[in-house]
Amino acid sequence: MTTTPFEAFDAAAIHEGNKALGFDHDAIAEQTHELLGRMTLAQKINEIRGLQPEPIEGLYYAGGDDELGIAAWKMVDGPRGARTGKATAFPVAIARAASFDVDLERRVGKAIGLETLAKGGNVLLAPCINLLRHPGWGRAQESYSEDTHLTGAMAVAFVSGAQNHVLTSPKHLALNNLENTRFDLTSDVDARTLHELYLPHFKRCVVEAQAASVMSAYNRVNGVYCGEHPELLTDTLRRRWDFKGFVESDWFLGVRSTSESIKAGLNIEMPFGKFFSDKKIAAAIEAGELTDEDIDTAAYWSLYQKVAWSIEEGSVAGDSGSIAVVESDAHLDLAREAARKSFVLLKNSSDVLPIDRRSTRRIAVVGDLADTVNLGDRGSSMVTSTKVITPLAGLQAEAGDCDLRFFATDADFAELGEFDVTIVIAGLTYLDEGEFIPSAQAESDGDDLARGGDRDSLNLPTDQRDLIERAAAASSRCVVVLQGGSAIVVSDWLASVDGLLMSWYGGCQGGAALAQVIFGDADPGGRLPVSIPRSEKDLMEWDTQALAVPHDLLHGYRWLDAHQSTAEFCFGYGLSYSAFELNDLQVQRNGDGFVVTVSVANTGSVRATAVPQLYVSVQNSQVMRVPTELKGFASLELDADETRLVQFQVADEELCFFDEAVDDFRLEAADYVFRAGQNLVELPLLRHWRFDGSAWSETRPG
Ligand code: BGC
Repeated sequence: MTTTPFEAFDAAAIHEGNKALGFDHDAIAEQTHELLGRMTLAQKINEIRGLQPEPIEGLYYAGGDDELGIAAWKMVDGPRGARTGKATAFPVAIARAASFDVDLERRVGKAIGLETLAKGGNVLLAPCINLLRHPGWGRAQESYSEDTHLTGAMAVAFVSGAQNHVLTSPKHLALNNLENTRFDLTSDVDARTLHELYLPHFKRCVVEAQAASVMSAYNRVNGVYCGEHPELLTDTLRRRWDFKGFVESDWFLGVRSTSESIKAGLNIEMPFGKFFSDKKIAAAIEAGELTDEDIDTAAYWSLYQKVAWSIEEGSVAGDSGSIAVVESDAHLDLAREAARKSFVLLKNSSDVLPIDRRSTRRIAVVGDLADTVNLGDRGSSMVTSTKVITPLAGLQAEAGDCDLRFFATDADFAELGEFDVTIVIAGLTYLDEGEFIPSAQAESDGDDLARGGDRDSLNLPTDQRDLIERAAAASSRCVVVLQGGSAIVVSDWLASVDGLLMSWYGGCQGGAALAQVIFGDADPGGRLPVSIPRSEKDLMEWDTQALAVPHDLLHGYRWLDAHQSTAEFCFGYGLSYSAFELNDLQVQRNGDGFVVTVSVANTGSVRATAVPQLYVSVQNSQVMRVPTELKGFASLELDADETRLVQFQVADEELCFFDEAVDDFRLEAADYVFRAGQNLVELPLLRHWRFDGSAWSETRPG
């Protein structure tokens, strides 16, 4: 066994090169005040709004002043790549979360940041970190997970990676998790649920990775629009988290007022100044609703970040990006690596996968999606790539001497029985889910705008189910590869197929990655970042037209656990071409937290990716606690027979609950059970600790 432990979250490596972590805040504050002192009211007002509704070559401009030599913000979407012309289309965020690999996410963030820079952008409108309260949320694919801890770790890695080059903007603050009614919806939540579940990942981006901006959400929280929410924008961001960035609104309908928004802490209206217009602001000042100081505060935070990042016209984020990085070989390799590490093997009867090219003669590839560019939704996160490898192209390129034939969805499947194995590519597209842009006109004009929206049902569309059932019935062995951006219920047809691989929207290199995994050149490294229930009825009520949605501590695996409901495939689940064993869980106090180690052995015969997971259950609590929560995870490749010690850090804060009586997190006297294993329901290793209110002790030493 190698003696140096593998650090599950190596903070120094994750944050390497993040410019924001090197700032001298005293000097920046001084320079910003000096700059602000030289500006007229009109110049300050101009600093707090976007330039125009439409982007210029993919860039949304905001602020800037030629006379004063202040450059404009140039903002670019988004979570799966730079949305300006052509760019590397990475697997969607939920796919990358399935890798449980923070170093990979840091590298993806860095690559997207670099492409944004090369395209002239300086603010990346990502990551999207709203939790999947329900997997039917249309934008689930843009976000990471139903789990706070996983979302936080991936988001921090993305932010620090991207902030090697440009500012980031974690979005959308907060509770933006129902798409169809996002402009009217109120997400209702108590303080405990808000701070314990829906905000910690935003906090980590701001506190640990110093995210330079945050985007407010469209929806309301407890009846108040997020763009004019003092509790979120000022009390939480500034007072609790000491946020030093700016808050920009979401686009168009993200602002509903002038004075209320500015006073609440919204700093920039995007994409243009509808409410932050000269006229409206002058009227508000005239009416005594706003003061000059309110405008100063809003402009200050935008200018603060311009000073901090040395944003100057002509130089982007103080650097010059070369256009050659866009869709470079290195970025395409990274997109392929991310895809293969994101695939989750859910079923593999009789080791139908991987397909051995030497012993297999004939392979059928079935379904129109095999031959379709299907990179995810066509809303604001859409990325256009010139380097797309579809599943069919990827499999054809790697099939070697096998006879590989394609059958379209409407083909006659009678012949399938003559093939050694059938691979069905099925799933969802931008028409089924995604950002909701219901524009029949745009679609009929062939524009790239999406219908998207929430899914009323977690089942596959009927035509896709028929496809799978027809192909499975006609084949000797059948593997289904699913595409989609969240949980898909598979219970109806799971028993009739031999293999099932969740491949998400795998990005421009997804087809090449698929071939690597199907033929066993790599193992599928992913695990589920979202529970797949047996039936949608096992989850909470889901109404895609709801205008008010209550939020509490239970959703996803927390809900299933609390209701003793078994998932079809639980959170953290995923098979491998190899097998792993976890042993020797050790939990030690270390400062204000714990160091946890576990040894992970690859007991199979091929190199493969292990994803050890650490959960904590709190017992004998004074308050209702969720049965079990993820507190650590790692992704590491191990050779056959290799064993490695993996080390997790768990801060006491992660074990606290938010006590509304003291308006803060509190560590309570209770029993804390540390549980390690390979997914939420297989956690064989336990360690029991007790906090008696002043000291910790291990209660059942192993
Ligand atoms: C989306 C944001 C996006 C913005 C700019 C909005 O519709 O909600 O996520 O960043 O558009 O494209």
